Amino acid sequence: MKVLLINGSPKGKASNSLRLAEAFLEGFKASVPEAETELLELRGKRIEPCRGCFGCWSGTPGRCVIDDDMAGLLDKRIKADIVIWSFPLYFFGVPGPLKNFIDRQLPMALPFMEENADGTGSGSHPPRYDISGQRHVVISTCGFYSAEKNYDSVCSMFDHICGKGGYETVFCGQGELFRVKELAGRTDEYLELCRRAGREFAAGGISPETKAGLAQLILPKETFERLADASWGVDRETGEKEPEALSFTRQMAGLYNKKSWDGTDRVLEMHYTDLGETYQILLEKDGSRVTAKPEKPYTTLIETPFDVWRSIAAGELRGDAALMEHKYRVKGDFSLMLQWDRFFGSGEAKKSEAETGGKKPARMLWMLLTWMALWIGVSIDSRIGAFAALAVIALIPVFTAAFEKTVYDALSTSAAALLCGLALLTGKGELAVCIGYAAFGLMWLLSCFTREPLCAAYVKYGYGGADALNNPIFMRTNRIIAAAWGVLYLIIGAAAFLMSRAGHMGAMQAIIYALTALMGVFTAWFQKWYPAHTAAGK
Ligand SMILES: Cc1cc2nc3c(=O)[nH]c(=O)nc-3n(C[C@H](O)[C@H](O)[C@H](O)COP(=O)(O)O)c2cc1C
Repeated sequence: MKVLLINGSPKGKASNSLRLAEAFLEGFKASVPEAETELLELRGKRIEPCRGCFGCWSGTPGRCVIDDDMAGLLDKRIKADIVIWSFPLYFFGVPGPLKNFIDRQLPMALPFMEENADGTGSGSHPPRYDISGQRHVVISTCGFYSAEKNYDSVCSMFDHICGKGGYETVFCGQGELFRVKELAGRTDEYLELCRRAGREFAAGGISPETKAGLAQLILPKETFERLADASWGVDRETGEKEPEALSFTRQMAGLYNKKSWDGTDRVLEMHYTDLGETYQILLEKDGSRVTAKPEKPYTTLIETPFDVWRSIAAGELRGDAALMEHKYRVKGDFSLMLQWDRFFGSGEAKKSEAETGGKKPARMLWMLLTWMALWIGVSIDSRIGAFAALAVIALIPVFTAAFEKTVYDALSTSAAALLCGLALLTGKGELAVCIGYAAFGLMWLLSCFTREPLCAAYVKYGYGGADALNNPIFMRTNRIIAAAWGVLYLIIGAAAFLMSRAGHMGAMQAIIYALTALMGVFTAWFQKWYPAHTAAGK
């Protein structure tokens, strides 16, 4: 099977549309590995415009009078089993080189007048060659926010070339986003859909679900248009070139998701240390604004060399790692940095769902309830209490089936159940409770030496999901917190054991509650303070 991919973009390999077509072809090839594929680049080929002499119909039937590259190309076009037409939309039609190629297909037709079987148009010409088995796919990007209504004349032309309904289409608005590295996360999702379309086409046809996905906007209209406007690096009022850092900052601001506004206006000040330029991005209810002169006191200040921030935006440098290495500094409210994706990105909810296999992210509360069942139940009564605690421990997983489970949930359930069993069998409830405290502490402490410290396993989805585990500030913060809880509960375990032997378990319980509450306050403070402290370069 021969697949001919025709690239009609004057940009050649740098074509946005070609990226979609290549992804489609990749998907197709995954299903039909034996397919023979050829890329036909129209750029650089000698294809003169048709002269309209009809020589190919009467003088030299089937052969054009012009001696250029077209004869060889026509041969490939005729022999292909599948033709993929890839091109940008130019003035609501196909670009010139592709139009020349299409016009020069005239030798493929016989001159006689015929009626179109599918009722397309007012007449047609019979084909000179039997290419009725050929399948066609038309893939194109355009510059406006949506492909809708922009392709009417293109479709009308391909209806005549391939027959109405005789071709599949992938039409994509916001085409220029495909060359923006900073947005690869979003455009890669679209390319993946193209691969899926290719696989489905190989199996018969593109499914309605994939077609619906391909018709979705890559970015919301407003965001896209703000980004597009800023990308030209030209002042809207004067039409003159503006400083590169300003247009870059405008593009950053363009990504602001105003749905993330939480009742507080924020002022993100970007100070490009090497350029000595400062811009403010005002993040407000109705959107974002960029000012070249500071308008208000900043709420968050980023002091960074321009190239460092640009590399971070392009995904060439991890922002969190660069911060840890003091390549830039952040002052003021650090919560903006921690929730960057909420303010300037999207897709996190989808991402956490994908990472948890469609379940809700794990909650630490369920794990804590398991231990509390042991500590409270067994403290009240070694046997009845232990029995009741066992029942609670058994029921928690049933009631929390919709939530993802971590290894710490499994460990907690097993350890707490075993200790309830110990209390039931021996009647030594206080001992089981003391061992429980120590085991709880040991679990926290040992978790510091794993890839996913205990608290990190539960809070990571608020910080970008599994990717947070590659964030050195997040990891260090969580290791310290996990170690602190581990040491506290190991000490509590030992102290509770000594106090219970001295008959002061009641007093010990009060001390444990007080210490736990204090550690809770410390955790809440430390998880904000430590990243901000590191970010400020201290
Ligand atoms: C001369 C010219 C005309 C264009 N006309 C349109 C148009 O009519 N509608 C549109 O949405 N985009 C239009 N565009 C934008 C391109 O379709 C868009 O940039 C596309 O993604 C480029 O694809 P390519 O990288 O495959 O060449 C035009 C671009 C140029 C250079």
